[in-house]
Amino acid sequence: MKALVLSGGSGTRLRPFSYSMPKQLIPIANKPVLEHVLEDIRDMGVTEIGVIVGSWAPQIAEVIGDGTRLGVRVTYIPQDEPLGLAHCVTLAKPFLGEHDFVMYLGDNMLPEGTAAIADEFREGRPAAQIVVHKVADPRAFGVAELDTEGRVARLVEKPQEPKSDLAMIGVYFFTPEIHRAVESIEPSARGELEITDAIQWLLEDGAEIRASEYRGYWKDTGRADDVLECNRYLLGSLPPAVLGEIDEASELTGRVRIEAGARVVRSRIEGPAVIGAGSVIEDSYIGPGTAIGQGCTLCDTRIRDSIVLDGAAISQVPGIHGSIIGRNATVGAGADVDTYHRLVVGDHTRIEVAA
Ligand code: G1P
Repeated sequence: MKALVLSGGSGTRLRPFSYSMPKQLIPIANKPVLEHVLEDIRDMGVTEIGVIVGSWAPQIAEVIGDGTRLGVRVTYIPQDEPLGLAHCVTLAKPFLGEHDFVMYLGDNMLPEGTAAIADEFREGRPAAQIVVHKVADPRAFGVAELDTEGRVARLVEKPQEPKSDLAMIGVYFFTPEIHRAVESIEPSARGELEITDAIQWLLEDGAEIRASEYRGYWKDTGRADDVLECNRYLLGSLPPAVLGEIDEASELTGRVRIEAGARVVRSRIEGPAVIGAGSVIEDSYIGPGTAIGQGCTLCDTRIRDSIVLDGAAISQVPGIHGSIIGRNATVGAGADVDTYHRLVVGDHTRIEVAA
């Protein structure tokens, strides 16, 4: 079995981050979303992975490389225009050949893993096996309707009035039969070739389609709040370790990971939290749900439930929470701080200040 990872999307819902980095590289518990995805695929026992990339191809290649570091072999497949998930299958056909494959959306997180579902697929080899998850509001997703025996009866992309609460969550297993379906469908109302329509086509053609329910934690990391929530969840299982330096005046409680070369001085860290390699935390409080990247400096600051990307510096800010601070950003008190906030803010940025 091969794998196809879709990482061509532009991530407009993650602006302003998606102006400077692809959403698949946003770190969750200090690891890019795409690395979490590739590791899940590796854990299925699949190592030949095609990655569909758009205009962010160079940035993705810089981080992931040829995949050796993650124990996989990555082939990049360029996509000039985002013409839909099923279009990606067409683009990848030379790479996929006549192999069965798993298709995985590069911004979906299934931390409990999908190896057991991969085994089910290998055993039964239906034309398609989809992964579904119960959601409160299925209207934003592809929705699977099952019959009383649990067989897939119908699949609908983003229905206004969903007839089931089972969303298709970004992991699909296919035999080469899918290629015929992809060639036969027409673009949807949003102008895209939908994978949901291709699977529905197979179903109407009499093929066997199975659904497996994933009961673990799932997140489509398309929006900032989803990224923060997922970060908090993943930090809860990060192996604690102190690989850096902590001085005697500092205190760590709960699940805390301090990477090599990081320094904690006169500070309190309450896990789950991670401090990336080479970061310096001084006279600060780092609260639960916080991931500090590499080479950051935090001084005289209180922060919780947040993600700080590599190289950012924060000083004298007494209460940051629910925040994502971009790479090499500077946040801090200025000379006129009692009366004014001084802001240098990019497009589509969100800032909330005390009234
Ligand atoms: C895509 C699929 C949809 C699926 C969702 C999962 O939606 O079209 O069927 O439920 O991913 O994240 P999109 O993110 O393109 O709106």
